[in-house]
Amino acid sequence: MKKNIRPIPKDNEIILDPFKTIMSKTDKKGIIEYANDYFMEISGYKEWELMGQPHNIIRHPDMPKVIFKLLWARINKALPIYAFVKNLAKDGSYYWVIGSFKTVKDDEGNVKTHYARRKAVPEEVKKEVNELYKVLLTLEKNSGIEASEAYLIGYLEDLNMNYDDFVHHLMRLNPRQLTDYMNSEIKDETDYTGLAAEEAIKKTVKKKRRFFW
Ligand SMILES: Cc1cc2nc3c(=O)[nH]c(=O)nc-3n(C[C@H](O)[C@H](O)[C@H](O)COP(=O)(O)O)c2cc1C
Repeated sequence: MKKNIRPIPKDNEIILDPFKTIMSKTDKKGIIEYANDYFMEISGYKEWELMGQPHNIIRHPDMPKVIFKLLWARINKALPIYAFVKNLAKDGSYYWVIGSFKTVKDDEGNVKTHYARRKAVPEEVKKEVNELYKVLLTLEKNSGIEASEAYLIGYLEDLNMNYDDFVHHLMRLNPRQLTDYMNSEIKDETDYTGLAAEEAIKKTVKKKRRFFW
């Protein structure tokens, strides 16, 4: 097993191209089996550094554990889930993504492979998620994951939303629109260089009307 030296986090954000997608594939335990070129470009890791490594190679210390607990609870049952994740690049920079996770089972019905697609997150959404994650992280540091989990449950109850509604609510997109955005990859004549995620969403969701709760 290769020993990883963790990058030292620095306050430098890498902004994603909202028309590109970061993709990876893992085995049932989260060991990386595939990463696309954009994954390597943004994370700064070469293919040989990623293959066979646990996916937590890009885990950022600002990420609350409870989010990954929720993620694994879903994907271990082969249920899909979205998650906002702050990731750590090899040079210590960070980048925010909204990840869509899907799992495939083998013929015997056992979990076999997990897939993740990730896209850029609008600035406003990043701010909101960051505030929530800061609270969750502080609770975890002081009182453990039970405390952050209880807080997250209460937070969603106050909003009268389940976790999935909450993701759509934050993105200001209904389920269909979010799927459109997650699958979007515009390759036409227009120069979209430097376009922010908000603009990219407007251009990619097929139904223009935004959906608010
Ligand atoms: C397909 C797949 C993609 C994942 N992508 C990420 C990711 O982008 N960033 C991340 O921190 N964890 C990701 N994870 C979760 C990690 O496996 C891990 O649970 C997480 O980094 C927390 O690390 P820990 O389990 O060592 O606490 C992914 C897991 C799977 C199965």
